[in-house]
Amino acid sequence: MIEKILVMHLIKNKNLSLLLTLFLFIGLISTAFRSETRVGNSAGGVSMSLDTAKTDKETGLVTDQNLYMVKAQCISCHSSKLIIANRFTRDGWKQKIRWMQANHNLWDLGETEKQVLDYLEKHYAPTAKAARRKPLNDIKWYKLEEQ
Ligand code: HEC
Repeated sequence: MIEKILVMHLIKNKNLSLLLTLFLFIGLISTAFRSETRVGNSAGGVSMSLDTAKTDKETGLVTDQNLYMVKAQCISCHSSKLIIANRFTRDGWKQKIRWMQANHNLWDLGETEKQVLDYLEKHYAPTAKAARRKPLNDIKWYKLEEQ
C-alpha cells in the first residue's frame, strides 16, 4: 500500500529518475536478502553433514533435539547468524560463553549449559580438516627461465 502510494506520487510528479532509483533500491535489497539467506543455510559450505542437515526455518540453525534450548538461551541478544558463522571445539564454545558472561551480561546457563554445548559441539565444530584439499602428489617442478 505504501509502495503504491509512493509510486503514484512519483508518477504524478513525473519524477522518473526518483522512480528508477526506488526500483533499483528495492532490487538491491532483495538481492542482499537472497545472498544472506544462502550464506546462512549453507553455513559456509564447508561441512558435508551441514549441507545435508535440516535447518530450522526461523533461525537457520541445524535441527536437533537440543535446538530448543539454544533458541531459548542464545538468540535473544543477537542473531543466530553469529552462531552459524562460527566453528569452535566444545572447549572453544565454552570459552565464548564465559566471554559473553564476563563482558556481555550473559546469564549463568546452569544445567542447560550441557545441552547447549552438546548441540554446538555436534553441529558447529571446526571442519578445517575436512575442508582442506588433499596434498598434491606427482608435482613436476620446472625451472623458471632467467630474463
Ligand atoms: C545477554 C546477551 C547474549 C546472549 C544471551 C548470548 N550472547 Fe552471544 N554475544 C553477545 C554479544 C553482546 C556479543 C558480541 C556481539 C558483537 O561483537 O557484535 C556476542 C557474540 C557472540 C558470538 C561471536 C563471538 C565472536 O568471537 O565474534 C558468538 C559465536 C555467540 N555470541 C554465541 C552465543 C551463544 C552460543 C549463545 C548461547 C549460549 C549466546 N551467544 C548468547 C551477547 C549475548
